[in-house]
Amino acid sequence: MNHPKVRLYINAILFVILLTTVLPTTSAESGLLYERTIGFSQVGSESDWRVAFTESILAEANERGIKILFSDAENKQQNQIAAVRSFIAQHVDAIIIAPVIETGWDQVLTEAQDSGIPVVIIDRNVTADESLYLTRVSSDFVHEGRLAAAWLAQATAGKCNIVELEGTIGSSAARDRQIGFNDVIALFPDMRVIVSQPGDFIRANGKKAMEGILNSENPRDICAVWAHNDDMAIGAIEAVKEAGLHPGKDILIVSVDAIPDIFLAMMNGEANATIELNPNMGGPAFDALEAHFRGETIPKWIPVTGGIYFPNTAAEEYASRRRDFGITPTPFSP
Ligand code: AHR
Repeated sequence: MNHPKVRLYINAILFVILLTTVLPTTSAESGLLYERTIGFSQVGSESDWRVAFTESILAEANERGIKILFSDAENKQQNQIAAVRSFIAQHVDAIIIAPVIETGWDQVLTEAQDSGIPVVIIDRNVTADESLYLTRVSSDFVHEGRLAAAWLAQATAGKCNIVELEGTIGSSAARDRQIGFNDVIALFPDMRVIVSQPGDFIRANGKKAMEGILNSENPRDICAVWAHNDDMAIGAIEAVKEAGLHPGKDILIVSVDAIPDIFLAMMNGEANATIELNPNMGGPAFDALEAHFRGETIPKWIPVTGGIYFPNTAAEEYASRRRDFGITPTPFSP
């Protein structure tokens, strides 16, 4: 026992034990995703909500010590497919896809699965078989549409001519919100969508669409604008004001997202209700991947919930939501 070599060996072991007990690991380092690489294919930056969502996922990854390969698809599915193929070629540990549209994913998801790379679908849905991805983290878009219609039905006593501003055609967010909204107004014989125009979830497009509608319809016949997101609603608000009417009073405004600017509009009496789409989906997505790497079985849908907001809390919501994550995505070229 007193042999110098044995003493040296024991001392070395004691030193290692001391180091591992004295030097704490950070919570990020203890996470299963620490220093793993995840490819993230994002839709684009068409709305304030989308920008907040990107910033939130990057901030969450940063906190957990995850390396993100970020790809902005500029609203084009072919860019997303190219990015996913490039992530596969680089042998990333996992892939997160926020799909622009629902269809056309089967082939590339099969390629990821064949390479043993787990995929999380985030926000919008895909029509591909659910066996091709690990899970989907998202809100319930149908429910959002139903909430918007239920609020409008009670605000107008079930009598309203509605202008609908649609999100990206082919996206599950637009389709499901429309389904939910129409399901509810079908219960009220005096509620109908008199015009429906696409605006791609973009503020400027919402304004342009509304300007056209105000020219083709008698503005006095329009009771409300139902916009699939707040950005298009804000564009419509500008068009209504320029037409000499008072949005929020002459024409009611209801939309989805709960971005800071819609609360500003409410504070000015120009918007009436918004349904929240929580942008903080990175946490549940990374938790699901961690659980997967621990060998656990993951549910195929991880819902993210949100409430409905009105002008009475707009000032406090505006103050609490107006934040800056300060993280700029590092562009990734496939
Ligand atoms: O897919 C969710 C939608 O996409 C958001 O409501 C909209 O703002 C975004 O562009």
